[in-house]
Amino acid sequence: MKAIISDIHSNLAALRVVLDDIDHLGIKDVTCLGDVVGYGPQPRECLDLVKSICTITVLGNHEEAVLLGVPPTFTPRARKAIEWTRKEMLENGGEKPELREARRKFMQSFKIKDRIEGVSYVHGSPRDPTREYVMPRDAADKKKMSAIFSQLVDYCFCGHTHTPGIFTAIGFTHPSDMFDLYMLGTDEKVLVNVGSVGQPRDGDPRACYITFDGDTIVWRRVEYDVEATCKRIYDIPELDDFLADRLREGR
Ligand SMILES: [Fe+2]
Repeated sequence: MKAIISDIHSNLAALRVVLDDIDHLGIKDVTCLGDVVGYGPQPRECLDLVKSICTITVLGNHEEAVLLGVPPTFTPRARKAIEWTRKEMLENGGEKPELREARRKFMQSFKIKDRIEGVSYVHGSPRDPTREYVMPRDAADKKKMSAIFSQLVDYCFCGHTHTPGIFTAIGFTHPSDMFDLYMLGTDEKVLVNVGSVGQPRDGDPRACYITFDGDTIVWRRVEYDVEATCKRIYDIPELDDFLADRLREGR
């Protein structure tokens, strides 16, 4: 059994309850699908925790932006948050330079995609692993979905949209419409969105992740202290208040 987490976005309160939940289930194998940082108030703490716990971490577009610069597709508030995040992680004068360098090297070690024991892991999509969004509404876009499914070997796990669910040959299904679990069929091609730990956008503010035993995917939701994260965001002028407000509603 393994756990797959994604899109923590510097939300340490959410990450801690998810890791506690994983620990209570007795799961030792944790994969992270990127966007450990960005938007939230505690990037250093989240990256250090992921480094100590996760066996695999793939690159998210927010790590890419920290390392290589912010692409023009980022909104002004996301850009401002990344600029603050980069300073906090890589230029914070209160820390030893070796520690900052170790964080940079850890992020640089993230693969763009990974494939282990017949299962693929990406942040965004199989055809553009770091940046492409596959939204629930895209299930109706036959051209886009057939291009994406042509890149699938069988099972692929992703994050990036912060919207949990599964894309199959017949469309998209949110976990709430399948009792939070899906049993994989033989030779089935699926794209599974594991949801977001630190900034869910499906109307449910609870932290989201999945467990996977090779056959069955279970989406789990865990309550965390949203107000503690909101307060930290309000206290940092470079982080837009909206980044806190949205956490309360999961939007
Ligand atoms: Fe993200």
